[in-house]
Amino acid sequence: MTESITVAEKAYAKINISLDVTRKRADGYHDMVMVMQTVSLCDDLQLLLNREGRTFARTNLSFIPGDDQNLAVKAAKAFFSAVSDPETGAEITIKKNIPVGAGMAGGSADAAAVLRALNRAYDSPLSVAQLLSLGETVGSDVPYCIVGGTKLAQGRGEILSELPALPECLITVCKPSFSISTPDLFRRLDRVSLRCHPDTEGIITALQQQNLKQVCRRLYNVFEDTGDRRLRTVAAIKSCLLDHGAEGAVMTGTGSAVFGIFQAPDKAEAAAVQLRKEYGFACVTRPVNIL
Ligand code: C5P
Repeated sequence: MTESITVAEKAYAKINISLDVTRKRADGYHDMVMVMQTVSLCDDLQLLLNREGRTFARTNLSFIPGDDQNLAVKAAKAFFSAVSDPETGAEITIKKNIPVGAGMAGGSADAAAVLRALNRAYDSPLSVAQLLSLGETVGSDVPYCIVGGTKLAQGRGEILSELPALPECLITVCKPSFSISTPDLFRRLDRVSLRCHPDTEGIITALQQQNLKQVCRRLYNVFEDTGDRRLRTVAAIKSCLLDHGAEGAVMTGTGSAVFGIFQAPDKAEAAAVQLRKEYGFACVTRPVNIL
């Protein structure tokens, strides 16, 4: 990079249509089987490149770190190192719209957006496969967030297979005021024996048939079975979404956000209005593709 340039990129949130954990691995991670979907709810990123090798982030939320703890910063540094350009740095400005600590991969989406934006700014020195490998070093959800769309994610979350797109729908997301720590919920999961697992094959068949109702009947997240007392609020939000006419409702990732899938825009909006009043954050979003 010889000149100072600015690049903009959107970082799309994800939801889990299904989430299964199949085993704890020797490396401490868990093997997962997840059907993932990116949604239009997104953070807005701007990267201003400099020649002093200074990389940091600033956001509209004061509690989000701007140093290496921020996955966007980690991703930028990993990129500059991968393309052997240590003299370049990035001032990353992030407008956070994705709720934090929600299970919507907000931090991973920001990191993925940084990798996409930098690769584009450098004229694509890294192939998509190389970008995904780099993303994996930043976080388990980052490879998925780089490509987005409707995908089956396995392993730590980095083994991705293409699925037919989720049929058109509205997705009402609600995030209660508390957050749930991801490592804590994994530890909790290790202490329970799961009796139910998502019907992942059934979801894939329903996607192949473009049958939204059959997808929605199978929304399932094993983290809802961990017995955390805060999951009572999750259950209450699910009931509210279903009462408003959602075809199905489930917690996303390790929570605490919950979403419901609707066919009618007015019902999706009415659910969001009610949930916003009771829990603070709620919005209506829709499925999107990225790459
Ligand atoms: O990979 P990442 O840093 O995003 O993971 C955060 C934490 O989530 C890990 O330290 C681990 O506790 C847990 N995790 C896991 N298995 C996965 C993904 C994440 O146990 N597949």
